[in-house]
Amino acid sequence: MNAEIFLQVDNYISDFLAPEDKALTDTIKSLNEEGLPQHSVSANQGKFLQVMMIACNAKKVLELGTLGGYSTIWLARALPPDGKLITIEADNHHGAVAWKNIHNAGLSHKVDLRIGKALDILPEIIEQHEEPFDFIFIDADKPPYTEYFNYALQLSRPGTIIVCDNVIREGKVLDENSADEKVQGVQRLNKMLSENENITATILQTVGSKEYDGMAIAVVNRTA
Ligand SMILES: C[S@@+](CC[C@H](N)C(=O)[O-])C[C@H]1O[C@@H](n2cnc3c(N)ncnc32)[C@H](O)[C@@H]1O
Repeated sequence: MNAEIFLQVDNYISDFLAPEDKALTDTIKSLNEEGLPQHSVSANQGKFLQVMMIACNAKKVLELGTLGGYSTIWLARALPPDGKLITIEADNHHGAVAWKNIHNAGLSHKVDLRIGKALDILPEIIEQHEEPFDFIFIDADKPPYTEYFNYALQLSRPGTIIVCDNVIREGKVLDENSADEKVQGVQRLNKMLSENENITATILQTVGSKEYDGMAIAVVNRTA
């Protein structure tokens, strides 16, 4: 078993079940052209998010960390015609690239892109008394993942699914003495997930076209 077989199987699965169209491949190209990092989810992970959304009948979605809009496009495509998605991005340039890609995918009418730090925007959304979100995808900076998750819980209903990406970090989560603040951020989140009685959660390891990592999946049982 090695990275090569994981990549080949990832391609095998995405050829069957998560083929990319031009809007998605153009989005990936735009990251290189515009100097953004290739940190998008993979096609199979995008499809996984869609499956989770449909499982919880998601009409209202929140995303933290837009980058170039690749995951946003997968998410917005799984919304019903009257569905809405708010996506939060701290970087102005990332936001501008994302908006172009979302527009090219014909999804700008469904997407509300908010530029700013998630820790500033989330309390604003709570103050605005938004209806609860059905599905929340956390994929922004890692150190405040626990704070993001706690805000996400405040914006949830029983049955909301919350997915957090990159919580295994090539296995570095096992290092209790890690000085890496990203590792520490996800360690804190994973511990909290194990202790929080308001959710049912697990973590799936992810391999394939991206580096070895993991996604946490939580279903909200009750709001605090
Ligand atoms: C891993 S990338 C998101 C990838 C995207 N979800 C996708 O799969 O296509 C993380 C993004 O979070 C953004 N980000 C970093 N810190 C942030 C913050 N405090 N608030 C909101 N976004 C932030 C980064 O600028 C970057 O674009």
